[in-house]
Amino acid sequence: MTVPSTNTDPTAPPDDQLQRPFTALEPEDVLDFADVHKRYPAMADFHARLGGTSLREVPSEPGGARILAKCEWENPNGSVKDRTAYALMADALRTHGDRPPEELRLLVYSGGKLASAMSLLGQRTGVRTRFVLMSSSPPSLLEKLRERGAEVDLVPAEGGFLQTIRASQRIAAAEPDWTLVFQHNNPVNVAIHQRTTGGEILSDLGDARPAAWLASIGSGGTFVGVLRALLGRFPDIRAIGVTPQEAPYANPGRPGGKPTYEGSGGHGYGIRQPFVKAHDDLVEGHRHVTLPRALRGMGEFFDLTGLRIGSSAAANWLAAKEVAAELPPDAVVVTVFACAGNPEQWSELGR
Ligand SMILES: Cc1ncc(COP(=O)(O)O)c(C=O)c1O
Repeated sequence: MTVPSTNTDPTAPPDDQLQRPFTALEPEDVLDFADVHKRYPAMADFHARLGGTSLREVPSEPGGARILAKCEWENPNGSVKDRTAYALMADALRTHGDRPPEELRLLVYSGGKLASAMSLLGQRTGVRTRFVLMSSSPPSLLEKLRERGAEVDLVPAEGGFLQTIRASQRIAAAEPDWTLVFQHNNPVNVAIHQRTTGGEILSDLGDARPAAWLASIGSGGTFVGVLRALLGRFPDIRAIGVTPQEAPYANPGRPGGKPTYEGSGGHGYGIRQPFVKAHDDLVEGHRHVTLPRALRGMGEFFDLTGLRIGSSAAANWLAAKEVAAELPPDAVVVTVFACAGNPEQWSELGR
C-alpha cells in the first residue's frame, strides 16, 4: 500500500479522499441542477423550501458586540445539512443521468444530520441510501432512517468519526454497487453554502458590516462556503473556526476516545479537513468548546430565549460571546445555529 508521505494515519486507504488537496470551484460552475429538477420534481420541491432561514440577534455579553445567528433548524428537515444533502444528492443524480433512480445506491458516512436529510431525499427520489454512522448515534435518528427505508452500518464510537469515514471507504472498495458520497472533498458542499447560506447572510445583513464570522467545523463546508461569500464584500472579516476541545481541528495523535458536541471535530493524526486546509491562511484561529460546556450552553440559551439550539449551535454561541466580549457594542459577530438538538439531549438536560 502506498500512502502519501504526509499521512501518519495507519488506517488510511491509498489515494485517501480525506487527504486529497481541495480547490474550490465557483457556485455557478458546479450548481447547475436544472436537469435534475426536471427529472426529479421532489428535488425541485425540496430546493424551493430550502434556506431563507432567519438571521436573528441573540444574547451577547453585556457591553460587547451584537451577535447574529443564522437559524438553520428552519430548513425543511431541520438542519444546515439539508443544504449539503440537497447539493450532494443533486450532484449524484446529475452524474447518474437518465438511468432509473433505483439503480443508484448511495453510501453516506455522517455525523447524523446529513444522514437524516439524505434519507428523506432518497425516499422521495427512489434512490437507495445506506448510512455509516457512529454507534453513539441517537436512537431517534436510527428509527427515522429505518422508517425511511435506509440501511445503516454502525461503527464503534471509540474510533472517533475518522473510523466512520474509514469504514465507509472500505465498504465502497469491497462493494462497488455502492457509490460513496464523500462530503469532505466534494466542491458542491462548499459551493452550496457559498451561494445559499453565505448569499442569504449577505442580504440579511443589510448595511451592517460584520467584524467576525465563526462556525463549527464538521466537513468545513458551512464555515468555508460562507467565508468565501463574506470575503467578497468584507475582505477584512475575521474568520474563526469552532471545534471540540476533545478533538480540535488538526489534532495530532490517535483519534477517538472522548465524545464531542455534535457534528464537528478534528480527525486525529494531524489530518486537516480539506476545505479548511485550503483556506488555512484566511483563518485567524480556532476556539475550543467541551461537550459538557456545549450542553450547558444549550440549557442557558433555552432559559434566556425559550429557543432550542443544538450542541454545535451552543458551541458557536459560546465562542461568539467570547469574541463579542472583546469588541465594541456597535460591532457585529455572525455565526450559525446548525440545528435545534435532538430529543435525547433535551431529555438529558431535563427541558
Ligand atoms: C449539528 C452539526 N453542526 C455543525 C456541523 C458542521 O457542518 P459542516 O459539515 O458544514 O462543517 C454538522 C455537520 O454534520 C452538524 O451535524
